[in-house]
Amino acid sequence: MKPSEAAQLLLNAAGLGIRLHDWQKKFIDDQSRFRILLKHRGAGATFTIALEAVTASLLQPSTTTILLSYSMRQSLEIFRHVKTILTHLENTTIKHNGKQAKIKTRTGERNTHLSNGSRIISLPNNPETLRGYRADAVYVDEAALFRDDFTLRTAVMFTTVARTGRVTLVSTPKGKRGWFYQSWVHGNEWSKHFVRLGDSPHLSERDLTELRKVMTDLEWRQEMECEFLDEVNAFIPYDKILAAVEDYVPSRTGVDGRVFLGVDFGRYRDSTVLVGVAEDGGRLRICYLEELKQAPFAAQLETVKKAAELLRPSAVVVDSTGMGAPLAEALSKVIPSTTPITITAPVKTTLVNNLRNMILNQKLVIPADETKLINQLRLYQQINTGIGFKYEAPAGEHDDYVMALALAVYAAQTSSTPKVEATFFWKWKSPQHLTP
Ligand SMILES: Nc1ncnc2c1ncn2[C@@H]1O[C@H](COP(=O)(O)OP(=O)(O)OP(=O)(O)O)[C@@H](O)[C@H]1O
Ligand SMILES: [Mg+2]
Repeated sequence: MKPSEAAQLLLNAAGLGIRLHDWQKKFIDDQSRFRILLKHRGAGATFTIALEAVTASLLQPSTTTILLSYSMRQSLEIFRHVKTILTHLENTTIKHNGKQAKIKTRTGERNTHLSNGSRIISLPNNPETLRGYRADAVYVDEAALFRDDFTLRTAVMFTTVARTGRVTLVSTPKGKRGWFYQSWVHGNEWSKHFVRLGDSPHLSERDLTELRKVMTDLEWRQEMECEFLDEVNAFIPYDKILAAVEDYVPSRTGVDGRVFLGVDFGRYRDSTVLVGVAEDGGRLRICYLEELKQAPFAAQLETVKKAAELLRPSAVVVDSTGMGAPLAEALSKVIPSTTPITITAPVKTTLVNNLRNMILNQKLVIPADETKLINQLRLYQQINTGIGFKYEAPAGEHDDYVMALALAVYAAQTSSTPKVEATFFWKWKSPQHLTP
């Protein structure tokens, strides 16, 4: 029986009503040690690797399978697929190699132990956490989004080498860099699979038409047509952006340092974006992000007010260019620490270069799950006009997250350090006994 037939039988037994697409069958039947899957968004890839992991673990006793994700949230998401399939299979009897056994599992938040001695473990991105594991299979989901991916590559190879374990990379492209891109383009040892638009019929024509409406041209080319986009004019190298990424959920709670808020008011098609940064031991950590799509004046104002109540920022810097002016003015009345800024070309140059330096000097921390911000930063361009440089998102793209972040960083940089309160010095009595 082919592995894809076994996987389909398990799906039938689980009663999930899913019939594998042709690309899924071909992928599951590919027994190569090194496989790479290039796929568009929503293709069903995470589900496929979860299903394959469950199938292989059930059919081969005493194996260890590791699922790697770029963030904690994603590791929970991939494990949700594993859990769903296994929960539906619990106590089902399967026959394999002439033996009959009931499926029994002990499942935690991100790992499961099967009664045949196999286990599946879902881990977030951290080469250190891989230490000590010997795996029969490692899957790297959304491999192009991992920071330190070449360090991870070494860790994955160590983890699999002793058992001649299999390695599978899965991703939507993110530019021409990194382990995923290098393996896809230059890796002769990798067996390559490409899921094209239309290969996953669970995404209907209507779904795709709706998606096309909300995605920019570049987003569509990258996320749906799987193009590895050039980074010729990239303002901040993607490697440097990824080096600034840490896996945490942005929050005001637990932040001791001062907080600064940047607001980029939406014009034309752009959204209004708010970004908060918090001082954190010499670095700035993004602690708040909010996007408001084409909201009326009053709603935008209300959102900024609410964010200010929550964050209690030491300074709020808002873009008061053009249509932002009346909003900035209204905001200054309710939040006195508001500084409106008119973003002329030289101001923009300063703002974005400050931001870039913060990233290059590893002084800014970006949350791993904020893929929209990360993508905007990655695509942001510096264009040589012959008489200088201009800074902007590629045609048709947005830069609202980048600008809101640049404003927040500027707010932090231009606010002087808090004054240490000179408490009661002057109340000390002069040491009379020392007076001659
Ligand atoms: N053969 C199939 N038939 C019907 N639905 C499917 C099939 N394969 C996967 N799906 C469903 O498609 C949806 C998207 O799957 P999944 O999250 O695995 O895709 P993905 O490629 O990882 O997406 P993303 O790009 O968002 O990470 C899920 O709800 C999954 O259950
Ligand atoms: Mg996925």
